Amino acid sequence: MGLSATPEVEFHDIQGLVQRGYKELPAAEFVLLTVTDALHARTWLSKLADRIEPATAPGHDKRDRASALHLALTYQGLQTLSVGKETLDQFPLAFREGMATVHRERLLGDRGASNAANWRWGSAPCQPNADAEGLCETDRKLHLMLLIYAKDAPTLSHIKKSVLDELDTSGLHRITALDTVFLAGPECDPTGNPNGPKEHFGFRDGIAQPHIAGMPSREDGHAVPGNIIPTGEILLGYANTYGELPEGPTDANGQGFGRNGTFLVFRQLHQDVVGFWNYVARQATEKRCSAVELAAKMVGRWPDGTPLVESPEGPQASLQTHDGFVYAGHPKHPDPHGFHCPVGSHIRRTNPRDVLNDDPRQSLELSNQHRIVRRGRSYGTPLVEDMDPAKLMKIPDDQAERGLHFICLNAAIDRQFEFIQNLWANNPKFGGLYDDPDPLIGVLDGEKATFTVQKEPARCTYSDMPRFVQMRGGAYFFLPGIAAIRKLAGLKG
Ligand code: HEM
Repeated sequence: MGLSATPEVEFHDIQGLVQRGYKELPAAEFVLLTVTDALHARTWLSKLADRIEPATAPGHDKRDRASALHLALTYQGLQTLSVGKETLDQFPLAFREGMATVHRERLLGDRGASNAANWRWGSAPCQPNADAEGLCETDRKLHLMLLIYAKDAPTLSHIKKSVLDELDTSGLHRITALDTVFLAGPECDPTGNPNGPKEHFGFRDGIAQPHIAGMPSREDGHAVPGNIIPTGEILLGYANTYGELPEGPTDANGQGFGRNGTFLVFRQLHQDVVGFWNYVARQATEKRCSAVELAAKMVGRWPDGTPLVESPEGPQASLQTHDGFVYAGHPKHPDPHGFHCPVGSHIRRTNPRDVLNDDPRQSLELSNQHRIVRRGRSYGTPLVEDMDPAKLMKIPDDQAERGLHFICLNAAIDRQFEFIQNLWANNPKFGGLYDDPDPLIGVLDGEKATFTVQKEPARCTYSDMPRFVQMRGGAYFFLPGIAAIRKLAGLKG
């Protein structure tokens, strides 16, 4: 079997979450589990495998789906279910070591309140009890995550009941359940809206995604030239951008336990919504500019989703979910220097498209070596029901816990997710800037950060920017192919 750039993708074996984010299923919950008895847990798994929602070949999408179920496992989960050492050793280091290591703490900026010692799950204050591998008790116990999506709350609770009711006799114990909220802005229709909800700062989220070769997404129009990445950038067992198989438990033909699987990065990110809008409003007053415009410059899109590079003057309904753009080579508004969409904005630095260097074509290729498929969901009560920035700006702080369950899929955690967070988001010198980390998710040690808006005749600098997002918990998971879940269920030991 050769390594083809556009291979035959085995839709029936791939978990459907790789293909779609289930925006038509606004109710969702993520249940974290520990295996207490591997034998019984395998029986539970064998039944669950039949209920996992597979991806679908083009033209076969089920638009009337009422729910979807997915399963991901940590390295410790695979170990506990007796996956052989030879297979385990083939997994890449980042997945084997997990998110909460001293090295990754530095890489990802998980310091201070965001440090793993303060997480609610995934890790815990563990230094004194850490074992020889540096793992603490809670790390050891987080084995599985069930991702449950449903069209409404009653359907969600019905599915939960049917899967989790006899958990204790199934050799499993529930660690915690992470609930979610669908934040529908005025432009969003929560029932069957294909365009995505908002996140807590008030911006439409879940718009830009890479198009995976051989695997069209449900929404057409994502196959924009320059936005197609090789299948192996997301799925194990297929050729990646280097024409090689991603690291993982597959043989030279891409077959084996890892095939059709991907790595799922989960980070529970608390958002300080009042802090964000207070900062933006204060700076806007000082500099006599519009607060919503400044916030849009920080994101790179207007709150309704319109990309700034397409429409720097204001939002446009027809561009709310537009993803087919570049910066330097934009046919109508070329923006190599960030005058429309600032160099340091969240979307321009998490996917710089054609502006990584002076050669737009090469730049697009380089950017596409660091893409992720995002599947996040918000959690916590919204500060205002309709997510209107004008209201968000004025509301007093209720100190409530709210944020984003950031979820992304990638075949190489170190070259994709970690690279984006470390070298693009946390890098204060990104794109020739000076002390500007990503205004939403970047981390700068010591001093407060700066956000720069490129302008003529002189740039405008917004200083003393605090950190608006903090980590609350997280882990690296493997989202296996469905046949691999059946293999797990049939293991002995
Ligand atoms: C609370 C945390 C976060 C918030 C509020 C947030 C918000 C947003 C928003 C509003 C967009 C634009 C809409 C869209 O294209 O979907 C976006 C895009 C994006 N975000 Fe985030 N995000 C967060 C965390 C992250 C993290 C942790 C990463 C990766 C390390 C990330 C990577 C991206 C990428 C790759 C895009 C698409 C860029 C493009 O292709 O144009 N985000 N985010």
